[in-house]
Amino acid sequence: MRITALRLRDFRGYGQVLLAPPEGVTVLVGENGAGKTNLLEAVHLCCLGRSHRTSNDKEMIRRGQETAAVQLTVERNDGRHEVGVRLFENARRRKVVYVNGKTASRLGELMGHATCVIFSPEDLALVKEGPQARRRFLDMLLSQEQRAYFYALQTYMTALKQRNALLKQGDTISLPAWDEQLAAAAAPVVRLRRAACEQLHKRAATHYRYIGGREEEIFALRYQSALAQSEHVEQDMLAGLRACREEELRRQTTCFGPHRDDIDLTLCGEPIKAFGSQGQMRTAALSMKLAAFDLLEANQGEPPLLLLDDVLSELDPDRRRRLIARIGRAQALLTCTDQADFIGARPACVLRVENGSIRETGAEEGEKP
Ligand SMILES: Nc1ncnc2c1ncn2[C@@H]1O[C@H](COP(=O)(O)OP(=O)(O)OP(=O)(O)O)[C@@H](O)[C@H]1O
Ligand SMILES: [Mg+2]
Repeated sequence: MRITALRLRDFRGYGQVLLAPPEGVTVLVGENGAGKTNLLEAVHLCCLGRSHRTSNDKEMIRRGQETAAVQLTVERNDGRHEVGVRLFENARRRKVVYVNGKTASRLGELMGHATCVIFSPEDLALVKEGPQARRRFLDMLLSQEQRAYFYALQTYMTALKQRNALLKQGDTISLPAWDEQLAAAAAPVVRLRRAACEQLHKRAATHYRYIGGREEEIFALRYQSALAQSEHVEQDMLAGLRACREEELRRQTTCFGPHRDDIDLTLCGEPIKAFGSQGQMRTAALSMKLAAFDLLEANQGEPPLLLLDDVLSELDPDRRRRLIARIGRAQALLTCTDQADFIGARPACVLRVENGSIRETGAEEGEKP
């Protein structure tokens, strides 16, 4: 998959921009605050309908403007796909998504046309922080793999909200009906997450060994859920909800189900969060992202877009070289503040980003040192 055009209008610090990156690696160089990450964020927004770093869409609208628009055109094995998103400052207007020139009625219709994996320094949160970051990682991957997952998750989250509202009101009469809705929606979510984790495990372990360069360090990733082993997810979910009823009424919230899932990460059998070094945690996070990249590639028969935000500077030269070797087959947008950061990346194009403008730099700048 390859971006042929990325268009922005009043997105973050940008007025109007058209970017047409070539195949291979495009490097975006610029000082801190120049707007490099903003460009990757725009691509992410087109792929998934949301930013990778904020849940507040309005932040992405250029200050002082009423609306922002992004549009991404990709060339794929099966032809051209064009997706776009428009955001509004006005709270009464919902975001609008476009697919191949038409307004889509549901956000989910955006998924799967252009797909991406983003690597950023914040990925460390995948390993270091709470389960939410890991659930989001799975959700982003699976939503791009299949729209059905995104819809199932949406249904589940809506049912969960309703059910939690009932619990707050102490409404025990309506609860059973919501139990059933919740359980029905949970089943595909759990099944797909479990299958994805099995696939991710195999690949992430291999990537870890390769990038870390140490045979004896065994990285493992396991789906952690009350329903992880369940063969009849819907029934077991119902039973789980019933068993938790008293606790739920006391705590006024749903205590059982995939909204509490996690991914268990270990290095040589020990929880990596507690015992891993910074470098080991970073390698683990990178391996998980690479595994996600593999899964999307296998699922779609072509590599997704790669967005590499400031990641090379954090790796030692050996790890950097191995990372580049792993992802060489995809079109990539790579940001850095320093020319020296992309040594070995062999960019097809180097662009300089400077407050709201992007310009091509001389080839000699890209090639040195
Ligand atoms: N809604 C907005 N309207 C106008 N400008 C914005 C908006 N949101 C962010 N910016 C500007 O965008 C810039 C930050 O862009 P970005 O995060 O892409 O920087 P960067 O080049 O990735 O920097 P770093 O190297 O530090 O990561 C800031 O200067 C900020 O003021
Ligand atoms: Mg940045």
